[in-house]
Amino acid sequence: MDLFRFFAIIKYFFMSVAIYPGTFDPVTNGHLDVLERASKIFSQVIVAVSADNSDKKTAFDCNARVKLLLENINEYKNVQVDSFHGLLVDYAKDRGASVVVRGLRAVSDFEYEFQMAQMNRHLDSELETIFLMPNEKYFYTSSSLIKQVHLFGNRETKLVPDNVSIALRKLSLENQNREGA
Ligand code: COA
Repeated sequence: MDLFRFFAIIKYFFMSVAIYPGTFDPVTNGHLDVLERASKIFSQVIVAVSADNSDKKTAFDCNARVKLLLENINEYKNVQVDSFHGLLVDYAKDRGASVVVRGLRAVSDFEYEFQMAQMNRHLDSELETIFLMPNEKYFYTSSSLIKQVHLFGNRETKLVPDNVSIALRKLSLENQNREGA
């Protein structure tokens, strides 16, 4: 590889603003693992919480999901948290981002991620999607599974940060009180 190309690649990563989008209902240690990896690669990472993902009925409203994330990013000086409405490609353009970061866990993620990346490329060919693998201990977790264990099973996992554990405990109590009333 010639020197020019080498520096172009280095510049691409270290000068790029990356968006890490998701529903984050709620943020898990797996998400934070991906975020930490992204923060070491890109000059700025914006965690973008989708405010209107119509496919999912969320346990936490958008403000709560943003707050749970904000409480976990103090150690990363180049990470911000924001929420967005509408299409991801439009939000990325508004924020001057050239890269979308997505976590890729098991093979089962691939089909969905592939479709999403292709659609985003169709909508904006300048926006690149980059996949990062979390630590394998998070390969088989997801927000829905974690919610099931905490909310319906009344058990705790070590798969979420402390503030999320507390928020899930509170939500579980609220649900129980509502059902008992
Ligand atoms: N560790 C643990 N779990 C992880 C994970 C990790 N590293 N990475 C992903 N997951 C899980 C999440 O917990 C979530 O689990 P759930 O389905 O049980 O809730 C699942 O994988 C996927 O969630 P997430 O990464 O939050 O993505 P999403 O599919 O909810 O979000 C958007 C998708 C918001 C990025 C997408 O819908 C979007 O861009 N919306 C905006 C509208 C738009 O532009 N649409 C066109 C897109 S082509």
